[in-house]
Amino acid sequence: MHKTTIPLQERIIVALDVNSPELAKEIVRKCESHVTFYKVGLQLFMASWFDSVDWIVDRGHKVMLDLKFFDIPETVKLAVEQVNSRGVSFATIHGNDAIIRAAVAARGDMQLLAVTVLTSFGEEDMRAMGMTQSVADLVYFRAKKALELGCDGVVSSGLEAERMRQDLGDKLLIVTPGIRPGANVCDESDDQKRIVTAGMAIRNGANHVVVGRPITRAADPIRIIEQMQQDIVASCP
Ligand code: C5P
Repeated sequence: MHKTTIPLQERIIVALDVNSPELAKEIVRKCESHVTFYKVGLQLFMASWFDSVDWIVDRGHKVMLDLKFFDIPETVKLAVEQVNSRGVSFATIHGNDAIIRAAVAARGDMQLLAVTVLTSFGEEDMRAMGMTQSVADLVYFRAKKALELGCDGVVSSGLEAERMRQDLGDKLLIVTPGIRPGANVCDESDDQKRIVTAGMAIRNGANHVVVGRPITRAADPIRIIEQMQQDIVASCP
């Protein structure tokens, strides 16, 4: 099992998937006694541009900017350069060797995570997109390649984390969305397919878990965070 010194408050990255900076701030204020790492994704970035990112960073917290850059190498390089002086800790990209290399060269102090296969994809979604590999093999292939190309880590489900941690070593950062409390069974009404609990993700080798709706839509977010953190502590080496 991997050894790490990540503080408990940074293990969960709360995904601020809301449509206004005010709502995002409300969630941060509610959670910051327990969580100091937040994810800004497409919805909030469209709603507030860099304002939310700057506000969270100025408050002393960490930000994962999850815009999943995918374009020709030069465009990705220029996009990464727009972000690399903002105090962002993690940014996400994906693509082939040339795209990843361009992003790595422009990353500055940020850590770059390559998206492997979305946690909302199952085997049938791969076939529907014309991909013949299994999810597990494609995630592993992309993670190995991302590491070789200089990426700091990957975004992957907790189901694939174990093989990556064992074969690719401790240097690779593994950040895991698709976290659902209490069950490792997929709910038909949920868009996420490759789900695990926070504890299972960490046990399998993830460094951080990304959690959105189970926390942001909970009546008592702190209670859910505390439960997940207990699960994480119990699952750490
Ligand atoms: O609400 P939920 O916990 O499903 O949110 C998961 C978050 O992680 C979302 O913001 C989603 O965009 C993000 N994400 C993901 N799967 C990936 C990469 C990012 O679910 N592979």
